[in-house]
Order: sequence, then C-alpha cells, then structure tokens
Amino acid sequence: MHQFMGVVTMAKFFGNLNAVLVAGLVLMLAVLIGVQGSLDANYLWRWAHVISGIMWIGHLYYFNFTQIPTMPKIPAELKPGVSKHIAPAALFWFRYGALATIVTGIVVAIQAGYAHQAFTLQPPFRTIGIGMWLALIMGFNVWFIIWPNQKKALGLVEADDATKAKAATTAMMFSRTNTLLSIAMLYCMISAESGY
Ligand code: HEM
Repeated sequence: MHQFMGVVTMAKFFGNLNAVLVAGLVLMLAVLIGVQGSLDANYLWRWAHVISGIMWIGHLYYFNFTQIPTMPKIPAELKPGVSKHIAPAALFWFRYGALATIVTGIVVAIQAGYAHQAFTLQPPFRTIGIGMWLALIMGFNVWFIIWPNQKKALGLVEADDATKAKAATTAMMFSRTNTLLSIAMLYCMISAESGY
C-alpha cells in the first residue's frame, strides 16, 4: 500500500511539468552554489541563452526530422491531430524560444563587451559575429515568414485551399533554410572563443 502511494505521488510529481522544472532549477542552484560558491550573472545569461537555444532549435529539428517527413504517411482523418493540436503548440515554443534566444544572445554579447565588434564582423570577433547574423536571419525567418505562413497552412487564419498549399510550401522551404543555417550557426556559437 505504501509502495503504491509512493508510485502515485511520483506519478503526480512527474505529471506536473512545472514541478519538474522547479526541481531541475533547484538542482542547478545546488550545483552552482555548492561547487562554484556564487551566482554569476554572466553564466546565468549564457545558461538562459543555451537553454532557450535548445528550445528553439529542438523544435526546428522536430519539425524537420519528425513532423514534416511523417505528415504524408498519416491517414487523412488523423492529420488534424497534428495540424490542429500538436503543431500550434510546437510553434508556440518554437517562436518564443527563438525570441528568448535572440534577446539572451544579445545580452551575452553586450556583457562580454564585444556586441558592436561582433555585429560589424571585426577580426577577433568574426566567428561569433557570423553566428549572430546567421541566427538573426533565422529568427527573422521564424517570426516573419514561417509563423505567418504556418498560420495560413494550419487554418489558424482564414485562407482558401490554394493559398494554404502555397503557404505550407513557403513555410517548409524556410524551415529547411533554417535547418541548413543552423549547422554553421552552431559551429560559430561554440567556437567563438577561438578568437577568429
Ligand atoms: C541572434 C541570436 C543569437 C545571438 C545574438 C547569440 C549570441 C551568442 C554569444 C554572444 C555567445 C557567447 C560566445 C562566446 O563569447 O563564447 C553565444 C554562445 C552560444 N550560443 Fe548563441 N547566439 C544566438 C543564437 C543562438 C542559437 C540559435 C543557439 C542554438 C542553440 C545558440 C547557442 C549558443 C551556444 C551553445 C553558445 C556557447 C555557450 C558557451 O560556450 O558558453 N546561440 N551566443
């Protein structure tokens, strides 16, 4: 009986995403304070940047590796499950993940004191500068091309069938463009400290 109650309590905890996220944060703080002994704003911004980057690019890869290739194999009567429920939720985390990544990335660059040099592609900041520009182009695509076209394609706004089909193709092409750009962008992000 006790064991059963334990499983019920665990299931309740793991069933609550917010509670799990708070526990994750507590664990992080324990490591941070226990090992590093202090809260460093610089690392907290970097952490926020990488975690929102994962939220963004994780959803980008979900669309490109899972949803887009699987959609044609789904029977017509089941497609609305994806287009009406899963895709709108995924697109929410996708576009706000993109926004958060851009904002935190710019903060990281400002804190490091090289935002201007990076954006103007000065020699020792060229790598991160290229990464930042690639990611900005990707963010522009998310908010101003993919999202407006997905709204039409998924029927979140009124559109006739021909417009819907065209919008779906445009969204797919820009989503694929972002997948292409993400490869070099990530290399720039992680090799910024090379000083090139
Ligand atoms: C416009 C958007 C972005 C801007 C302005 C930006 C800016 C930056 C800056 C300034 C750094 C610090 C580099 C350094 O000095 O070591 C950085 C690191 C990083 N960024 Fe971005 N970034 C952007 C988008 C992204 C995206 C989409 C991802 C995807 C996950 C990402 C992942 C990373 C990672 C993994 C690091 C390395 C962190 C570290 O080594 O501490 N960034 N970014």
